Amino acid sequence: MQLTKLRGFRDLIGPDARLLGVIEARARAIADRHNVAEVRVPALERLNLYARSTGETSDIVEKQLYVVQRSSEGSGADDQVLRPEGTPGVVRAYIEAGLDRSDPEQRYFYCGPMFRYERPQKGRYREFYQFGVEFFGRPDASADAELMVMIDELRRELDLELNFEINSLGDGRCRPLFRQALLEWGRAHLPELCQDCHQRLERNPLRLLDCKIDVKLTESAPKSIDYLCDECQAHFDSVRELLADAQVPHSINPRLVRGLDYYSRTAFEVVSTGVGAQSAIAAGGRYDGLVEALGGAPVAGTGFAIGVDRLALALDPIKFGVLPDAVLIALGNSALRAAMQLSGEMRAAGLRVEPLSPERGLKALLRRAGKIGARYAVIIGEDEISRGMVQLRDLRQSTQHEVPRAEVTERIAANVASSPRSLGEGAHLEPPTNR
Ligand code: HAM
Repeated sequence: MQLTKLRGFRDLIGPDARLLGVIEARARAIADRHNVAEVRVPALERLNLYARSTGETSDIVEKQLYVVQRSSEGSGADDQVLRPEGTPGVVRAYIEAGLDRSDPEQRYFYCGPMFRYERPQKGRYREFYQFGVEFFGRPDASADAELMVMIDELRRELDLELNFEINSLGDGRCRPLFRQALLEWGRAHLPELCQDCHQRLERNPLRLLDCKIDVKLTESAPKSIDYLCDECQAHFDSVRELLADAQVPHSINPRLVRGLDYYSRTAFEVVSTGVGAQSAIAAGGRYDGLVEALGGAPVAGTGFAIGVDRLALALDPIKFGVLPDAVLIALGNSALRAAMQLSGEMRAAGLRVEPLSPERGLKALLRRAGKIGARYAVIIGEDEISRGMVQLRDLRQSTQHEVPRAEVTERIAANVASSPRSLGEGAHLEPPTNR
């Protein structure tokens, strides 16, 4: 019997977990500034929820669901599955709470693991983390733009190079025309299309544009933006105008159709260079018909989800990792009490401090301080206590000075504030600048 982790699943230990934590903390703070409230929904839902939203013919529902329990009827519709994405569960919760009728305009964020049975590779896992935002009751273009501005605020804070690719898929009025045009185009090019596209053509022709094999061929395929009705065109123009005003770096990608079925009008992906093949670090769009399709009132919806793991791949673990500002080294019993007290004062000043075990000698403790990457070691011996002094050792420069105990916290705080240590909570950030 093997007791190792499952393929595509990961243990995130120490710095790896920390990177995700930094992103989540930053994203939560941004959501908070946009007056977006948290929602926590179950990780286990009925299969039917995803069949009716993500799409029966989507890869996610057809091939990637983790079925945890089969229903007794055996129809499959009531099977319990691990959530592959957050949107359907949030919409279900919103309808089930009666908010679609009592108080339709809502803004939520969620954060947590999602599960898809995909072929694992760098940036693609079977358990991965999303940070998502969903707005309800906002049919206007400025809601779509605000969502992208939120992601852009995170991009600026984390100092990343990202591009927003946007498209409009039209609505219930104009999309059927586009779908028909694609269907006709696909039938005319049938001999040149790959086997998968033969299936896509009849079941869900929009997916033709998703094909990774027929990329060149589909360049000549019809584009949704050429089929937009006047209202959808005006909506799309307005989104673009607002993005330009907010200086969000974006371009139109007419091939962007998304792998989930519920989108209408705005669809977008946020891509990063330099994280490998899985370059989409966030994605989203408008889903105006979804609340109604899941049994609720006709309320508009729009949202996004960030792939937190992929965003973490784009971050520099040194810059965003966390190292202790100082370790405390006590030599002797009364020094131990003084060191514990001093470490409390240092934490109160916002420093990251670790008191080391008193059971080893100075040499071993300094080795330990170096190994965990501490910036300073504060060494307290019996002799120093009687004089109100401590030894302050700069572990990067390998220099050591005796300083008054009363001044050591301030000295360290002044030095670590001016050097980059981490973008976690409590760290100091440059104000955002436009690129
Ligand atoms: P999605 O494009 O399926 O959209 O996923 C959003 C993001 O999650 C992707 O851009 C990617 O960064 C990350 N992601 C997806 N699959 C994996 C994986 N196997 N491993 C690692 N990261 C992954 C949605 O899920 C929609 N619910 C987004 C949305 C919210 N639309 C409207 N509201």
